[in-house]
Amino acid sequence: MSTSPLLEVRDLKVSFRTDDGLVEAVDGISYSLEQGRTLGIVGESGSGKTVSGLTLLGLTGSRRTEISGEALFEGTDLLALDEQHLRKVRGQGIAMIFQDPLSSLHPFYRVGAQIIEAIRAHQKVSKSAARARAIELLGMVGIPDPAGRVDAFPHEFSGGMRQRAMIAMALSNEPRLLIADEPTTALDVTVQAQILELLDRLQQQLGMAMIIITHDLGVVAETADQVAVMYGGRIIEQAESRELFDNPQHPYTWGLLRSVPRIDGGSGERLRPIPGRPPSLIGLPEGCAFAPRCLLAHDACLRAKPRLESAGSDGHTAACVVGPTHRAKAWHATQQDLDDSAIQTAAGVSK
Ligand SMILES: Nc1ncnc2c1ncn2[C@@H]1O[C@H](COP(=O)(O)OP(=O)(O)OP(=O)(O)O)[C@@H](O)[C@H]1O
Ligand SMILES: [Mg+2]
Repeated sequence: MSTSPLLEVRDLKVSFRTDDGLVEAVDGISYSLEQGRTLGIVGESGSGKTVSGLTLLGLTGSRRTEISGEALFEGTDLLALDEQHLRKVRGQGIAMIFQDPLSSLHPFYRVGAQIIEAIRAHQKVSKSAARARAIELLGMVGIPDPAGRVDAFPHEFSGGMRQRAMIAMALSNEPRLLIADEPTTALDVTVQAQILELLDRLQQQLGMAMIIITHDLGVVAETADQVAVMYGGRIIEQAESRELFDNPQHPYTWGLLRSVPRIDGGSGERLRPIPGRPPSLIGLPEGCAFAPRCLLAHDACLRAKPRLESAGSDGHTAACVVGPTHRAKAWHATQQDLDDSAIQTAAGVSK
């Protein structure tokens, strides 16, 4: 058993000074990830998922950004590295597949040339060796006829193929950690499944760890060993993946679960979007950020931000003021599709 984790993030905070005020995009998140494992970071739009990933690679820093905490990668604090060392980490330790696919493959350059450049930026190899490696990588990610396609332009690839090419580029320097930000969001369902399978296979093959950032619990269920649910810049529930799906503790997680189709093929269910909207991250009020949308919210929820507390097995934690017994009853009532007041009664909350 390895002793120290590959990545250990401790109390990471990231805020941006803007003309509208301080955006507290990430507000004290902590997690650790062992070699070869996959962490799913899930939450709605604007919850701080992308910022939490980009910050590890030093890609959110500017004069207007405030960053604190620690992010130990193989024992080195990424947040304390200068640009030169960060570049090395980005090349060889951690790779990222960015949320916006158009921003990562340059439209004017041939796909192969971009992969070759990524390889040669970090390894001393000849052009022809890098080209051979690029073809090999394109083959590895399932691009048919890679030797024939290596000189194609990005627009000559379908969306799914472009995503494969981006994965090939991300893998070009054999990272120990791959951060994939919404790797399948822009793709149709069949292609999504293929890309997730591909990532899974590559991970097995290469033994790398992954962080999959997504708004889709279905993607988490397919890929992740462990899950962090983010809301309003914080992690509000964290667990091993199976434990999270078997025993979800936070009313926000319930909302996410009920708003996506079940992966186990449950039929006849009603999908219910979570009412309301995610909060602005400027000047978040005291108290639980989810309270305004939460069926179980009561006075105590507005007083202070709930901390993550033990809520199940294998390190499962949740940040909710409602006690575990009442939560369990409320979740039971929720699953039985009882109406709102019955769920509140089950939770001992009256409105
Ligand atoms: N450079 C920046 N300057 C100011 N605010 C920013 C900056 N980058 C991100 N934000 C804000 O930080 C918050 C978190 O953004 P982030 O991109 O991490 O959300 P996300 O969870 O990835 O959402 P999505 O699912 O839409 O990708 C948002 O309110 C966003 O507007
Ligand atoms: Mg994002």
